[in-house]
Amino acid sequence: MAIIFDESRHLFMIGTENTSYIMAITAGKYLGHIYYGRKVNKPAGEAILRVKELAFVDRDFIGEKGSFGDGYPFEFGSAGIGDFRESCIEIMNENGQIGAEFIYRSHRIFDGKPGLKGLPATFANENDAQTLEITLMGEVLGIDLILSYSVFEGSDAIARHVRVVNNGGSTVYLNKINSACIELNNKDYEMLTMYGSWARERAISRTPIGYGRHSTFTTRGISSHQSHPFYAVLGKDTGEDSGEIYGMHFVYSGNFEGVVERTQHDELRMTMGINSYNFRWKMEPGEEFIAPEVITVYSCEGIGKMTRTLHDLYRTHLIRSKYLHKKRPILLNNWEATYFDFNMDKLLDIARCAKEQGIEMLVMDDGWFGKRNSDNCSLGDWKVNTEKLPEGIEGLVKRVNEIGLEFGIWFEPEMVSPDSDLYRAHPDYAIAIPGREAAQVRSQYVLDITRDEVRDYVYESVANILRSANIRYVKWDMNRPMTDVGSILYKGDTAGEFYHRYVLALYDLQERLTSEFPDLLLENCTSGGGRFDPGMLYYSPQIWASDDTDAIERLTIQRGTAMLYPLSSIGAHVSDCPNHIVGRSTSFETRGYVALAGTFGYELDVTRIPEDDRKMIPAQVAMYHKYNDLVREGDYYRIANICDTNEFDAWMVTSKDKKEALVTYIQVRGAANIRSRIITLKGLDPDAVYVLENSGEGDAPCKEFYGDELMNIGFVTDKIWGDGSGRLYHFTAK
Ligand code: GLA
Repeated sequence: MAIIFDESRHLFMIGTENTSYIMAITAGKYLGHIYYGRKVNKPAGEAILRVKELAFVDRDFIGEKGSFGDGYPFEFGSAGIGDFRESCIEIMNENGQIGAEFIYRSHRIFDGKPGLKGLPATFANENDAQTLEITLMGEVLGIDLILSYSVFEGSDAIARHVRVVNNGGSTVYLNKINSACIELNNKDYEMLTMYGSWARERAISRTPIGYGRHSTFTTRGISSHQSHPFYAVLGKDTGEDSGEIYGMHFVYSGNFEGVVERTQHDELRMTMGINSYNFRWKMEPGEEFIAPEVITVYSCEGIGKMTRTLHDLYRTHLIRSKYLHKKRPILLNNWEATYFDFNMDKLLDIARCAKEQGIEMLVMDDGWFGKRNSDNCSLGDWKVNTEKLPEGIEGLVKRVNEIGLEFGIWFEPEMVSPDSDLYRAHPDYAIAIPGREAAQVRSQYVLDITRDEVRDYVYESVANILRSANIRYVKWDMNRPMTDVGSILYKGDTAGEFYHRYVLALYDLQERLTSEFPDLLLENCTSGGGRFDPGMLYYSPQIWASDDTDAIERLTIQRGTAMLYPLSSIGAHVSDCPNHIVGRSTSFETRGYVALAGTFGYELDVTRIPEDDRKMIPAQVAMYHKYNDLVREGDYYRIANICDTNEFDAWMVTSKDKKEALVTYIQVRGAANIRSRIITLKGLDPDAVYVLENSGEGDAPCKEFYGDELMNIGFVTDKIWGDGSGRLYHFTAK
């Protein structure tokens, strides 16, 4: 890890463990991007920019500015001045005219990494990180642009963000602001994005990059089920273990857009930032705007290496919760067990039976407040329904604690149902455009939490319940996208601030909650709201990965999620069969193996599932306790993908010291007359001898293998019978 400024050659060289990121100051003015990729020690410098080759430019280096702007690889391209590629910043003056030219003014390099006010971001102490800040200035309007780059000890990630400061004398409007840009020479690259839908999140797509602009984005106000604030540019042949990949991951939970543009000169410009749809930020003199953080990562050892870089970064420098390195309590959530149909007695029956099986926490999901017996009312009325819970939350929690379980609760704090006391008293609290009835989704509106009084109401509603009883866990849900975006606070020339102000307000709420209740285990939620993103992970160590709990569907959902996020953050539960969403039946064992690759818990009525399944729970609980340290802290490797094999899926986790590995193998579809499958393992010590624990059946002796044998020749899996069956293989080095 080192950041160097080579004064004689005007070069900034940012070094991570295995990569270099290089910029140059051209003609004492312009900041250009030279290189990002595998580590280099002594780059030649500016010559690579081939500035003199640009049409009409050769006369005196910069020559005609128009032509220069059209081809120079700006580190942070500005709209309106001759750079026609995807811009990073678009500034409008008071007369509605767009254009600002940014030239180099100064820089500083320092130890550590500053936080981003009001925003989630990676953090590090002085010894673990170094930061470069480059200040560019827009002379005419008096705008300073501070580009920030931080590197971390032992990591190949770079954390970047941008600060815009209005040091001029007039009001300006920020119409667009990206947080990071990368310029590459195209090598027939592809674009990797994530797509999906409700209960089908984070599937992976790869497409060739033709000329023009290609984007992944959302305008739903939330990071969303449909797309993901991440994309990568990668080689056609890049696979799990070899090939180049450049990833950009946005630490943000609202509207975003990631763009790759293939230009006239066959270069690629990659950008990532807040979506400029309905975005316009008014900046009075003296004001600043912070564009959220983007994590960039490069790997020349395939997608797998990128994955492990991000996992380590997030486990070390993003997730703050005290639960991060701890086993989470095994919880049973009553959503799929009862939906809205429960009362205290039913919950206590479930709690007693759960306790007998070794489950550690009961989470009461939706339906405990107002008169909410279905999803069409009462959001906003966070008062206990005493018909269902006659002793109130306090009484219920006391009884659950007496049984020996901890207690957790569900909220959807940002919402209001039209049929609620809150809405009847304060219809103006909901986001809406005056004169038009706002669209409902799941019979609800979004509260305008950008307003202090609304945000305080929301906060106090949640906090009062938490203050009233021994509640150890909260699931924070959010079940609709934003439409009809209108606020009584942000309108006229600040209307375009609303979406981002909303996200800042959400972060403020989560910051307040985690500060007042530092011992609370907070779980944010995907299938409400799709906000599985690094922004939310800053506040909660785990996020419910999908409402689809079917073990086979989860292979794809969790695989996509784990491409970016550590397994310790992926909310995963064993649920009942036939699965409530897809109707599939899978063995109870397999459901356990799949949930083990996440936080692990239950989402079923333990009093009503088949006796044979229930009897398996104590062994699953023991399995979780045995392996969770490894799963939570280890290195994750994808071995086989059901989407490619069509028949089976496999992954493994290896401990950092390579002394232990756990392989999960799932036969999704049985087939006739096939041989057992050989899978090659990864991440082991080639010279170590690994002992495979016997399955516990019969007196079969433990088997021994060399690491290089397992990684090159492979490992013969059991020949298993039936669809959706699985095996765990546990190896320990001798
Ligand atoms: C969302 C969540 C579910 C559940 C329901 C309750 O869909 O993802 O887990 O909490 O809301 O309404």
